[in-house]
Amino acid sequence: MPPIQKPQGTDDILPVQMPQWNWVLKNHARVAQAHGYRPIQTPVFEDTAMFERGIGAGTDVVDKEMYSFEMHDEKGGSTRLTLRPEGTPATLRAVLSNHLDQDRHPVRVHYAGPMFRHDKPQKGRRRQFNQVGIETIGERAPSLDSEVIEIGWRFFQSLGMSGVSLQLNTLGSLDDRTTYRAALIAYFTPMAESLCEDCRRRLEINPLRLLDCKTDAEAVAGAPQLTDSLSPESTDYFAEVQRRLTDAEIPFTLNPRLVRGLDYYAHTAFEFWHTSLQGAQNALGGGGRYDGLAEVLGFPATPGVGYAIGVERCLLVLEDSDALPGGQPDAEVVVSSIGVAAVAAAADVARRLRGTGHRVVLDDSERRLDKKIRNADRIGATIMVIIGDDEVRDGVAQVRNLEKRQQERVPLGKIEDALAEANAFHNDGRIDL
Ligand code: HAM
Repeated sequence: MPPIQKPQGTDDILPVQMPQWNWVLKNHARVAQAHGYRPIQTPVFEDTAMFERGIGAGTDVVDKEMYSFEMHDEKGGSTRLTLRPEGTPATLRAVLSNHLDQDRHPVRVHYAGPMFRHDKPQKGRRRQFNQVGIETIGERAPSLDSEVIEIGWRFFQSLGMSGVSLQLNTLGSLDDRTTYRAALIAYFTPMAESLCEDCRRRLEINPLRLLDCKTDAEAVAGAPQLTDSLSPESTDYFAEVQRRLTDAEIPFTLNPRLVRGLDYYAHTAFEFWHTSLQGAQNALGGGGRYDGLAEVLGFPATPGVGYAIGVERCLLVLEDSDALPGGQPDAEVVVSSIGVAAVAAAADVARRLRGTGHRVVLDDSERRLDKKIRNADRIGATIMVIIGDDEVRDGVAQVRNLEKRQQERVPLGKIEDALAEANAFHNDGRIDL
């Protein structure tokens, strides 16, 4: 029988990779919290209707990429559920249904977690991937749009990442987009026959999505621009966002073709690109304002703005960066018993040492001492505490410094002091999860 394989487009994050992952997640949490954002977690699956209504029919995410399933309950009813393809609608739902917007104006939250899209797997495009993100819910002001963008920018800086380019656009208000929609229909309809199948369908249900098309790039290049359909209010709003970004010394490129792959955006839309990421996967992250989303989900109108950044893509960009933390030892100390009579004493010493907040592996196997020493080296330990029959009888242990290759006899009651003297504990007593 062939061994079970992991599903296509998913990744195991192995122990040697975890310090780098944790470092990215911690940096994001630190930067977000420095701006007053609080952590939030929502379920990994949600009502399918939330995504259908929120993200929109005609988007690739809803039409092709959702992991949806139906669950039947005991009463004969059923629920359509979907593994979340992204975090924004659920975060908005969680904030509004828990009334967090009643005592914070606006509500500032940040999150991290796995998302699921049934995409064609390749480098930087996974079926299960991880995002870090923030959402600012309950107020509409250009200063909040620029705050959100600045946090993303500072996050990349905290990773020591250079070469990020901020692409900025406005999608205008709903009215602006209705005008623009008509302009797009007028432009694309005469050439409908020559468009790809997806675009012919998009022209019917969601003409703005045509601008996402890579197949009909030439036709898209000549299409009217949204900027021509913007109201004076929308133009002023966007100008203020740009002014604030300039004040914060955050460089940006105006990109009138940036439409984003999700339908809920209005006004500011942006992406962070990196040159080392290829083609359609060049976005490290993206976001924007979604003032109409709450109503679409059945809540009172509530403005919001946020972004999400792909953790895998950040790590791809950082692959060879010196900034990434190296591996940590599994444990600083290995306590080894030699012979059955020493097992209980070794376990007791290991427990006492862990009680002082440090990482200790107990090796009470029947392997030979030289093998135990080799194993302790692999673990990355600097100290071995060896207890055999003779040591149990004399109430002592051999404390072996694996770096200096020195060994001394220490009374069992004094092991903690001996280890502190040997400076065995390189960390400050905290265990990094
Ligand atoms: P998004 O542009 O769909 O936006 O995704 C944000 C980021 O998630 C992408 O730029 C990319 O780094 C990562 N990502 C997306 N799909 C994949 C994939 N299949 N494999 C690997 N990484 C991927 C959103 O998700 C919005 N919720 C952002 C937002 C927050 N807008 C407002 N608030």
